[in-house]
Amino acid sequence: PRGTVRDDDGRIVVAGIALTDVAQEHGTPTYVIDEADFRSRAAEFRDSFAGWSIFYAGKALLTKTVARWAFEEGLNLDVTTMGEMRIALAGGMPAERLGFHGNNKSDEEIEFALEQGVGRIIVDSFDEIARLERACEAGGHTARVLVRVTTGVEAHTHEYIATAHEDQKFGLSIMGGQALTALVRCHSSRFLDLAGIHSHIGSQIFETHGFEVAIRRTMRLASQFRTATGVELAELDLGGGFGIAYVGADSPLATAEIAAAFEEMVEHECRGFGLSRPHLSIEPGRAICGPAGVALYRVGTVKIVELEGGRSRVYVSVDGGMSDNIRPALYAAEYSAAIANRNSSARPVLCRVVGKHCEGGDILIRDVFLPSDIAIGDLIAVPGSGAYARSMANNYNQIPKPPVVAAKDGVTSVMLRRETLDDIMRLDVGK
Ligand code: LLP
Repeated sequence: PRGTVRDDDGRIVVAGIALTDVAQEHGTPTYVIDEADFRSRAAEFRDSFAGWSIFYAGKALLTKTVARWAFEEGLNLDVTTMGEMRIALAGGMPAERLGFHGNNKSDEEIEFALEQGVGRIIVDSFDEIARLERACEAGGHTARVLVRVTTGVEAHTHEYIATAHEDQKFGLSIMGGQALTALVRCHSSRFLDLAGIHSHIGSQIFETHGFEVAIRRTMRLASQFRTATGVELAELDLGGGFGIAYVGADSPLATAEIAAAFEEMVEHECRGFGLSRPHLSIEPGRAICGPAGVALYRVGTVKIVELEGGRSRVYVSVDGGMSDNIRPALYAAEYSAAIANRNSSARPVLCRVVGKHCEGGDILIRDVFLPSDIAIGDLIAVPGSGAYARSMANNYNQIPKPPVVAAKDGVTSVMLRRETLDDIMRLDVGK
């Protein structure tokens, strides 16, 4: 997080609190979220994208407290399930500021969203449109909808997190014609209030080219829709995906730069197609909560493994792993690390930081230089862990999920408590 320093004793201090104190109070592993950092990144999106609606993507990290921060910073919230809706609402986010996503929303979820008055539903298939219409008819509701489209953009990111190419589960294809058909279908529905188009091209993206193509193709679609119906669409949502720096080689664009580029692209395409400027929105998740968070682990064993050619590698085992951060195993995601409890002037050696799971692929950081005197009991801080770590955590090997702790002005408060073995045992109702 911003403003992170080492104090005179060499301890890393986040939001005015030494991580050693966090470890003492809350144990390890723990995720620490710097509240001021989260808020300032949220505010940066709000201010840079003036006049746009910013939907914080709750899938990246969502607790009631986080929903409240997003609300207080003037953001809306992107939710994808009943669980995310429930937490967002419980955190005080008004239903009309929710955007409800998903490629397989259940009847129960749809009915809940309609009853609560969720602001917009992003429809993802013809089946869903029919399901939504039935629910509206039964409950006497009208749903404001955006149609999620596939723009055919090949986003430059990991295959599993690129979502605009044709052969994947999300959206309706512009190229194949289903997107226009769906828009016309929603427009002509008595139960639906068509707001516009939604495009999300992928995640952890560092350049604006893919967005540029997506803007051109969605605006062309809007123009085709106007030709078909005589009506201009009111809204365009460009999704999320703004990358953050996990390691030195990552160079994200500044939020203001992205905003300026998007403004220019939209203006250009509006002029080109003779369309008036739609209301615009984006859905950043990682870029708001990722850098605000750090994961804290305790070193349990240090093992030197001899390699061929007289080389060796230091395996540093920590008390978490692929259950609290699946991203390295799933996407070959890279992270950095630092010893959090002390300075060291020992020479840096190549280490591999691994977890405690029964699996060879349980690697948190494949290659990282750490001081050669790294030892049992040291604390390791992994920056960038605010996004998609706790939210994708699991109980592999029956390990309870770590807590999420908010840090502000030298004080921590638990927003999500540590899961206990009792929590886990309670679910096992067999005899
Ligand atoms: N909007 C939609 C429709 C999305 O599907 C996503 C991410 C976002 C916004 C937010 O994207 P962000 O700004 O956070 O990149 N779990 C993966 C990434 C997949 C995210 C899926 N959707 C990861 O750990 O990198």
